Amino acid sequence: MENILFFDTDKQLRDFAEKHPIENTNMVFFDKGLNEMSPKMLEPYLDTRIISGFIHSETLANEKLDLLPNLKLIATRSTGFNHIDLEYCKKRGIAVENVPSYGATTVAEFAFGLLLALARKIIKAKNDMAHNRIETSNYMGFDLMGKTLGVIGTGSIGRHMIQIAQGFGMKVIAYDPFPNPALKELYVPDLNTIYRESDIISLHVPSTPENYHMINEDAFNQMKRGVIIINTARGDLIDTQALYFALRKGIVAGAGLDVLENEDFLLHDEVSISPRMSDTDFLLDSAMNLKLLQFRNVIATPHIAFNSIDAINRINATTFDNISNFINGKITNNVIK
Ligand code: NAI
Repeated sequence: MENILFFDTDKQLRDFAEKHPIENTNMVFFDKGLNEMSPKMLEPYLDTRIISGFIHSETLANEKLDLLPNLKLIATRSTGFNHIDLEYCKKRGIAVENVPSYGATTVAEFAFGLLLALARKIIKAKNDMAHNRIETSNYMGFDLMGKTLGVIGTGSIGRHMIQIAQGFGMKVIAYDPFPNPALKELYVPDLNTIYRESDIISLHVPSTPENYHMINEDAFNQMKRGVIIINTARGDLIDTQALYFALRKGIVAGAGLDVLENEDFLLHDEVSISPRMSDTDFLLDSAMNLKLLQFRNVIATPHIAFNSIDAINRINATTFDNISNFINGKITNNVIK
């Protein structure tokens, strides 16, 4: 029976595997990620062809993949795959299979949840209530009905964000270099129009070299004073230092951030021994992130927008299908073109 190695696993994945075993395989589960595995730990599994892991903003280390000479498939339990070096995999003939869609509505619902929490100061009110220091005038929020939401990126998640916002009676404007004909009346010609006209801006674009720091000082300077920023996409879309100063200056009245630039330091203790701790940008962003968390008008969550039971079940089901198909000679959802 061939071994399938699952990294970054939790109880939910193991329960799913127990209920839906992949036939004729021995599924091996590690809590750790592959990057945290020593050569000795991998020694019993040197003939492994198939591994599956989760996403972290830290790249999957090629040196670790080198330790598995027979590797043929990485089944990532995510849509995003920018944590995997595709050139390296292509050279080695390793397929990289993802989960193309599992939770567009899941993420959009969370993004809207951040917006509602900011608009109505729900978290502050909850905390004050728990600590018996209620001051009703501190919880005055604003209505969403009639406000302008600027949606950047109208792919699967952005599209659902638009639907939800329209249900709340918001005016929606959108920008995407590849417009969706079904939404054609919503598009504005450029990002600057989004910046100038939106009361709330929500990001739903991938992290690419072109999109790196797309929301920077220049972008903030064009925005309406008092704008709300929602980011459930990727941390490096926003220049963290520019956001910090925009919050301090009151340009940004609130930020709902499920993702942070270089969020590893906050999310994973192990990173304190990571080589990235000697990288100045990494350190600076990590320090800035800690500053952001201190703002009362910032709600930061630990990259959990995808994390609903329904979405996780869909992720696991597609990953297991990808693996079973691969074993049966069929490649599905390969992201290497
Ligand atoms: P998608 O690929 O369906 O849509 C992305 C859209 O962004 C495309 O229509 C593309 O044309 C557009 N786009 C790219 N660059 C743009 C730019 N500069 N300006 C305007 N539009 C641009 O992606 P999907 O599934 O909607 O995901 C969006 C983001 O959400 C991704 O960054 C993804 O990594 C992130 N995500 C976050 C999760 C979380 O748990 N926080 C979970 C799942 C996805």
